[in-house]
Amino acid sequence: DGFRHETQFLRRPPRRAASLPNLNPHTGDIMSHLRLGDTAPDFEQESSAGPIRFHEYLGNSWGVLFSHPADFTPVCTTELGYTAKLADEFAKRNVKVLALSVDGADSHSKWIEDINDTQSTKVNFPILADKDRKVSELYDMIHPNANATLTVRSVFIVDPNKKVRLTITYPASTGRNFNEILRVIDSLQLTDSHSVATPVNWEDGDDVIIVPSLQDEAVIKQKFPKGYKAVRPYLRITP
Ligand code: BEZ
Repeated sequence: DGFRHETQFLRRPPRRAASLPNLNPHTGDIMSHLRLGDTAPDFEQESSAGPIRFHEYLGNSWGVLFSHPADFTPVCTTELGYTAKLADEFAKRNVKVLALSVDGADSHSKWIEDINDTQSTKVNFPILADKDRKVSELYDMIHPNANATLTVRSVFIVDPNKKVRLTITYPASTGRNFNEILRVIDSLQLTDSHSVATPVNWEDGDDVIIVPSLQDEAVIKQKFPKGYKAVRPYLRITP
């Protein structure tokens, strides 16, 4: 049945990793791939708010590190303005935000004035000034076949143990949905502390799924006193 099929799939031995390294076509260097569960590399870099050490900046918070192609560009202006407006939402979730582009700190400071003016907000998080591309390269934010010099729109969600919990990459022409980033943080924070997973298009407050590995009915009853609906043995929904 579907349940057996799914557990068999989960137990299948992992495939061997591809053996060819990913090379930067310009430098020939091996490019790093950050994967979920990896430790987010620490760094020290200039920013619009002075030098920043990443891990120290995060402290015990969650983090959102995100890159954008360049200062004084229209899509980025809307993204950073909207992120500033979400300050209370990030604070509620114990999240610190850190932006990045390969422009300098002086440019960032002038651009922040523009963002504040045009988006009716106050940018309240630092923007890394990654002129030497130290962080962009460490986090593989420059995709040379898309653009040789500018960062793409990368997002890394990092948990309080400094582990990478989400990576997404958007093209320069498409502004990201920062409500989605908040939604993922809600899901991660919920699923880290309860034996649940969140279904398609889930939002905070919606029904959740009891993880298939939890089979002990006594434990289920204790953890989910409101009960659950088993649509299939592997698909159990609880309020
Ligand atoms: C922008 O942020 O508006 C943008 C940046 C690079 C390419 C295209 C758009």
